[in-house]
Amino acid sequence: MKKIAIVTGSSGGIGQVFVRELAKENLDEIWIVGRNEQRLLALKNELGGKIVPICKDLTKQADLLSFSDLLKMQNVSVLWLVNNAGIAKMAPSKEFSFSEIEQTIDLNCKAPAVLINLCIPFMEKGAKILNLSSASAFQPVPYINLYAATKAFVRSYSRALNEELKPYGITVTAVCPSWVDTDMLPKEIKGKAVNFPGIVTPERVVKKALQDAKKGRDMSICSFYVKCQHFNVKLLPQKWTMKIWLRGIKKYL
Ligand SMILES: NC(=O)c1ccc[n+]([C@@H]2O[C@H](COP(=O)([O-])OP(=O)(O)OC[C@H]3O[C@@H](n4cnc5c(N)ncnc54)[C@H](OP(=O)(O)O)[C@@H]3O)[C@@H](O)[C@H]2O)c1
Repeated sequence: MKKIAIVTGSSGGIGQVFVRELAKENLDEIWIVGRNEQRLLALKNELGGKIVPICKDLTKQADLLSFSDLLKMQNVSVLWLVNNAGIAKMAPSKEFSFSEIEQTIDLNCKAPAVLINLCIPFMEKGAKILNLSSASAFQPVPYINLYAATKAFVRSYSRALNEELKPYGITVTAVCPSWVDTDMLPKEIKGKAVNFPGIVTPERVVKKALQDAKKGRDMSICSFYVKCQHFNVKLLPQKWTMKIWLRGIKKYL
């Protein structure tokens, strides 16, 4: 039986680092998933034979469900599933089109939930699921409202699923970074360079996430900055934490 890892969003900043780190594990194949074939092939060229590029749009039902056949056709044990693909539009909620709302919810929420259910029958004791949530899941976040709400879904879904899967020895970890230095973050808004307090590298997020998953933790927080955020939202009323956030982003509105 082939021991495999599946990493969605492998063509992006955090996903690529997950693939590089998982390439050091004892695995037969790493299925790297994304739409950008060139980027997936570049990662395969860099890391070699065990990398299997799978070009799919996870907002499309047929592409998502095709994993059922892919898994059935191969004799595999899924040791790692990293639901990392995600999109974010940082804008007032009223500016979202129907299709943007649908795609954000489909990719950030529906795709991980469906992929998990497709993979569970191919997982054994010790298998690990990591779902990319965010520090924006800790509280409501005006102006990145839809994105933050999808990440709250991911965090809540992951932690409850971790309890449900305990009898099977499968762990689920919600990875909750704050700002991470990738192409997802806009460099400027309305001509103003954006300052991202507490920004970290994707390497830092990934190394901590893999450590936490190996320890069976249901949440991974990689920096003191995010630990403070997490503590503050437990302590303060959400109305206050939203006011603090709004004060910080006032100059970009
Ligand atoms: N950067 C941050 O500050 C930050 C903070 C907290 C959490 N996160 C989360 O971390 C995860 C990775 O983010 P990142 O910063 O690495 O972003 P990124 O560099 O923009 O990468 C996003 C990835 O998602 C994939 N993707 C987008 N739409 C897709 C679709 N329809 N079907 C399949 N794949 C799709 C992209 O691949 P293709 O374009 O090839 O399809 C890409 O590989 C996301 O879930 C994000 O929400 C990021």
